[in-house]
Amino acid sequence: GHSFEHALESLRAGEPILVHDAADREGETDLIYHADTVSPAAVARLRNDAGGLVCVALGHDVAEAFDLPFYSDAIDHPATADHELGYDDRSSFSLTVNHRDTYTGITDADRSTTIQALGEAAAAPGAIDFTAEFRVPGHVHLLKAAPDLLAQREGHTELGLALAGAADLSPAVVVCEMLDDQTGEALTPADARAYADRHGFPYLEGSDVLDRCQ
Ligand code: 5RP
Ligand code: ZN
Ligand code: CA
Ligand code: ZN
Repeated sequence: GHSFEHALESLRAGEPILVHDAADREGETDLIYHADTVSPAAVARLRNDAGGLVCVALGHDVAEAFDLPFYSDAIDHPATADHELGYDDRSSFSLTVNHRDTYTGITDADRSTTIQALGEAAAAPGAIDFTAEFRVPGHVHLLKAAPDLLAQREGHTELGLALAGAADLSPAVVVCEMLDDQTGEALTPADARAYADRHGFPYLEGSDVLDRCQ
């Protein structure tokens, strides 16, 4: 419908979109931008209006091209061995990064620099020397998509990247959970939709994305 087309236009134009995964999964709504278009003001919106963890989701092949593992596979600590999640088979967490042109890495300007550079890198992974451009660890959490995207996993990682693909954009999106400042819980779908309406941002259900992108 209209929201789906609006979402693709928004991603191309540097506007955020909201995506609720599913009531029987996390039951969370993430605020999402395409990585290329992020600005310091967008990072400020992510931390002030969303308030969760700011992460960049990369397509599986891009992550592989940069030698980026799943965190749980890379870290040799016993607590990574049995990574039981209540809502999915595996976490999509990979490493954390900062662009080498950042100082502390956490400011809006620094995170914007890192996120934008990840967007550019994802557009041409063969042309990038990842280690020359980024340092690990850093202040932006990377997420690595499932190889077959929505066919294998229906997280915000895969939902956001499927939308980027539908918009003909590179496989790199920044996502952050919307939290309720009063309760500390995930923002309810009704409240997330009200926020979207207030700002004129599109709101999508994961099922809408599955219907249109699979
Ligand atoms: C990282 C998360 C978020 O839920 C994010 O949406 C990515 O995870 P998933 O793909 O499992 O939804 O936990 O902050
Ligand atoms: Zn999560
Ligand atoms: Ca807030
Ligand atoms: Zn999520």
